[in-house]
Amino acid sequence: MSDAPRPAPADVDAYINAQLVGADPVLDAALARAAAAGLPAHDVAPNQGKLLHLLARIRGARAILELGTLAGYSTIWLARALPSGGRLITLEAEPSYAEVARANLSAAGLADRAEVRVGEALPALAALEAEGAGPFDLVFLDADKQRNPEYLEWSLRLTRPGSVIVADNVVREGELANAASEDPRVRGIRRFTELLGATPGVSATAIQTVGQKGWDGLALALVDEPGAVGSR
Ligand code: DHB
Ligand code: MG
Repeated sequence: MSDAPRPAPADVDAYINAQLVGADPVLDAALARAAAAGLPAHDVAPNQGKLLHLLARIRGARAILELGTLAGYSTIWLARALPSGGRLITLEAEPSYAEVARANLSAAGLADRAEVRVGEALPALAALEAEGAGPFDLVFLDADKQRNPEYLEWSLRLTRPGSVIVADNVVREGELANAASEDPRVRGIRRFTELLGATPGVSATAIQTVGQKGWDGLALALVDEPGAVGSR
């Protein structure tokens, strides 16, 4: 046995990113612009962004909805999965974040297919429904976690059978399993998870993740086709 230090989860992310994700100057520039503007480094990791991108391609998503744009890092990964003519709408409550995201999407050559809407998500979701913007093929929930239950309800209204719903940050250092937590974000992810499990016609799971973003997790849900095997 060598006495080299054992690899840590962040080392494994670095290895995976080097082998399977690769260097990407556009994404690096997006993160640099976010850091220069003082945004919190809450972007998904590169291998997670690639996972979102692959899910959108597997689904053949032509219409994508994101809640919580931040600097637009995950937005770029998702928008790159769209076929020509595809559309992404991303909702961001903080105007200064939206401004950075718009700059990042323009620099990525995606401004024509990705629209950043500024404002609280709940009224923006009602506006999307009112204008008939859906149905969306993939929804990525990454906004204020305390409102995840309402965001799930809106996601179900704005999707159709076969659509995919993904939620970030559903484990929060294990707090998902802490029934006594009074943190509104933890209560939000717990109620979200319980609602997901109790919703007929949706098949879901959640996976814990480690790596450069620490101990967290992603939830994945499929809006079932009527009568699908495994639907519940
Ligand atoms: C936080 C939010 C995120 O979306 C994330 O991926 C990590 C942390 C936060 O608000 O703490
Ligand atoms: Mg997140």
